Amino acid sequence: MTGIPGYDFGSVRSAHSPVSAEELRQLEQTLGWTADDEQLLRKHAALFEAQAEKMVDSWRAVIGSQSHLAQWFLAPDGKPDDEYKAAVKRRFVRWVIDVATRPHDQAWLDYQEEIGLRHTPEKKNKADARHTPPLVPLRYVLAFVPLVTPLHHFFESAIRDRAQLDAIERAWTRAVHLHVTLWARPFVRDGLW
Ligand code: HEM
Repeated sequence: MTGIPGYDFGSVRSAHSPVSAEELRQLEQTLGWTADDEQLLRKHAALFEAQAEKMVDSWRAVIGSQSHLAQWFLAPDGKPDDEYKAAVKRRFVRWVIDVATRPHDQAWLDYQEEIGLRHTPEKKNKADARHTPPLVPLRYVLAFVPLVTPLHHFFESAIRDRAQLDAIERAWTRAVHLHVTLWARPFVRDGLW
């Protein structure tokens, strides 16, 4: 239990993913995600935990600096919905730790469906009972990936070995790609995913 409001990992409130275990393995294989990547991220879990909030703050600053991105956090009066931003941030920070630590089991797979849905009209705003715009278009979720993948800046003071740092960043990048690919599924209608 994390005590984070709206964080429904492993709960009955989470969506169920229709992606099969075999489809997941094939996707992991395509991305080049390996057991070594999983172990490497887990080995540095404490570092992810220590840096997660700073990472999220830096990504949030990018969103806040571009009005076409910030609009998805605005209340109906056109002002930033600060309660919403704060609630979502806690779950976003938790996600960073989850990426580094959670095994890719059914509960994890299910929650990727849930996170995808939370960017779409079916579930956006629902966890926090807010009234911000109902959709973050898929193109922006995809376009944001290169913002989220660099780790050097956050990890270099703790990990001096350049090769090790590169390996962690590669594993993290593959993990982010896998997550976002799974999130794309509920956006894509008519079985074209
Ligand atoms: C690589 C890209 C992205 C990542 C890794 C990411 C990650 C996340 C995570 C982990 C959550 C919380 C999930 C939970 O509730 O447990 C979330 C929610 C959210 N994200 Fe994203 N996101 C991305 C792109 C974007 C973009 C580009 C925007 C818009 C500027 C955005 C806006 C939101 C909003 C508004 C929510 C709250 C949804 C709700 O109402 O529950 N995200 N995102």
